[in-house]
Order: sequence, then C-alpha cells, then structure tokens
Amino acid sequence: MQVAIQPVGDVQTLADYRAVVMGAPLYIGKLRKDAHRFLAQHREALTQRPVALFALGPLDTDEEGMQGARAELDKELAQYPWLKPVALELFVGKYDPSKLSFFHKLLTKLPASPLHNLPASDNRDWDAIRAWANGLTARLGL
Ligand SMILES: Cc1cc2nc3c(=O)[nH]c(=O)nc-3n(C[C@H](O)[C@H](O)[C@H](O)COP(=O)(O)O)c2cc1C
Repeated sequence: MQVAIQPVGDVQTLADYRAVVMGAPLYIGKLRKDAHRFLAQHREALTQRPVALFALGPLDTDEEGMQGARAELDKELAQYPWLKPVALELFVGKYDPSKLSFFHKLLTKLPASPLHNLPASDNRDWDAIRAWANGLTARLGL
C-alpha cells in the first residue's frame, strides 16, 4: 500500500488514492481556508472513496473546551452534507505563540482573546492519536 502525506493545498488529484485521511486545525472556530478549498475542489473524488477526518483544536482536555470545539467542527462540516467520513475525531492540539502569523499574533494581544497571555503548550495525546490511526486501515476498508 502506498501512502502519501501532503498539505491539502498541494493535492491536485485524488485519482491515485483509494482512501483519504484529512487532518485540519480549528482556528477561531473555523477550519482553515485551504481545508475548505480542498473539500470543495475534490468533492466528487471524496464521495467516491472512504474519507477519515481529524481536527486539532482545544489546547487541553477540559470537557467544556472539547465540547465547544466539537460543536465548531460539526458546524464547519455541516457545510458539506455530502461528506460522510467513516471516522471523525477531534484531538487536543498544541500552541506556540512564537510561531503565530502576524494576524494571529495581533489577535492574542486583545485582552478579550482566549489566547491572551497564554503560554506555549503541547497537550497532544499521542496514545489517543496512535490508537485512532491504528484503527483506520480497517475503517477505510484497506
Ligand atoms: C489564533 C488561534 C485560534 C485558535 N482557535 C481555536 C478555536 O477556535 N477552537 C479550537 O478548538 N482551537 C483553536 N485554536 C487551537 C488550534 O487549533 C491548535 O493550536 C492546533 O494544534 C493548531 O494546529 P497547527 O499548529 O497545525 O496549525 C486556535 C489556535 C490559534 C493559534
């Protein structure tokens, strides 16, 4: 089985792939534009092969944050009612204020921003990510 890992924006065609695993972070309650573009551009191919989706979002596992992020993700995906992922998961992400874009850095300066004065963190749960990834071949029918 051949596996290719590519940024969504680099994918020209899905013709050579039997299945798709897409990962995308949530930013300000939304999926990034390149993820939206990928879904719109490859709609036909994505309906013809199994798709698994994961999103990275909340920065820790508190129940409220997880539920809020899951609601954001569900709302974003509701724009694609034709998309029927065989697996869909939300994982805790990481945060590094030194790597933010100019625009996001500006946002964190606002006292009202949830990221205001937030220190760097990486609470990704690699055991959970590995467990999910290990189950994918079966769920994708590979
Ligand atoms: C400016 C900014 C906005 C964010 N907004 C949200 C959000 O609305 N919901 C959420 O669950 N996580 C949010 N996050 C957390 C990111 O999804 C998390 O940091 C993720 O791991 C980023 O992935 P990346 O480093 O691959 O871009 C935000 C992070 C940043 C920096």
